[in-house]
Amino acid sequence: MFPDAVAALRCPVCQASFLLKEDQQRTLACEGGHFYDAAKQGYFNLLTGKGTAFEADSAEMVAARYRFLEAGHYSALTEAVAEAAAETLQRPDALVLDAGTGTGHYLHAVLQSSSASAIGLDISKFALRRAARLNPQAANLVWDIWRPLPMADNTADVVTVIFAPRNPAEFARVLRPGGILIVVTPRPGHLAEIAARTGMLSIEEGKEERLAEAMSAHFNTAANVSLDLPLALNGPEVADLAYMGPAGHHLRPGQLAELAETDGSIATMAKFRISVFTVS
Ligand SMILES: C[S@@+](CC[C@H](N)C(=O)[O-])C[C@H]1O[C@@H](n2cnc3c(N)ncnc32)[C@H](O)[C@@H]1O
Ligand SMILES: [Zn+2]
Repeated sequence: MFPDAVAALRCPVCQASFLLKEDQQRTLACEGGHFYDAAKQGYFNLLTGKGTAFEADSAEMVAARYRFLEAGHYSALTEAVAEAAAETLQRPDALVLDAGTGTGHYLHAVLQSSSASAIGLDISKFALRRAARLNPQAANLVWDIWRPLPMADNTADVVTVIFAPRNPAEFARVLRPGGILIVVTPRPGHLAEIAARTGMLSIEEGKEERLAEAMSAHFNTAANVSLDLPLALNGPEVADLAYMGPAGHHLRPGQLAELAETDGSIATMAKFRISVFTVS
């Protein structure tokens, strides 16, 4: 796998580099003597032994996300993310970090339009099973975005964060000068018709301003694009959409079954913001 990605990684226990070896597909070994074995699906759990209080997405939530994204409902967003990353990833030894990679769907599109090395982080091992299958050339790692990232300073050309937690100080640290951070967030009114049926959390007004403020300590805004996608979804698709996001942790199975039995199609609008930041 990915020698450039391995070169950028640092051991979370002792901060040493990892040895570049023949069998790094199966074991990552740091210069300080720590070993991390790959799961059989090919991802690495760097959080070993530390545990985390975070409630990771379940296998069922990840399956719902996978079905929904692979059906192409968000393909315009997928293309927009790949396009936003493409130019910066032209360099011969470019590296992209996808923080909160989920099933690896967006990273997959980014890697189709560039030959960059890649690191995908997520706290859910169920998500990483899918990501490792979709992006076998990437280093797919179980990691918590709120902790210091297991990467050296100034190593990534592009960081993508798509509906996932943001750690601006760490993203700024790992980006190279000239690198960019691409953040996708929902805008107020996102999927409003479905939120009303499911108790999905609605997007609070003022949230965008707070995001901009949190980023401004480390980043300058280079672009802010709104993307609206009209969707017409049948019952099972509505159920997947409700279940694949944060509300999935709280939905009762009965509620999901009700949604899945919805007759006809429900019209709604996905409302995204794609923000591009440069390190200040
Ligand atoms: C809404 S999903 C988005 C996944 C993917 N980016 C996509 O758009 O398909 C949020 C993802 O962030 C991951 N996540 C949430 N908190 C995290 C954390 N503290 N560290 C790493 N990943 C986290 C979840 O496991 C989940 O896969
Ligand atoms: Zn180590």
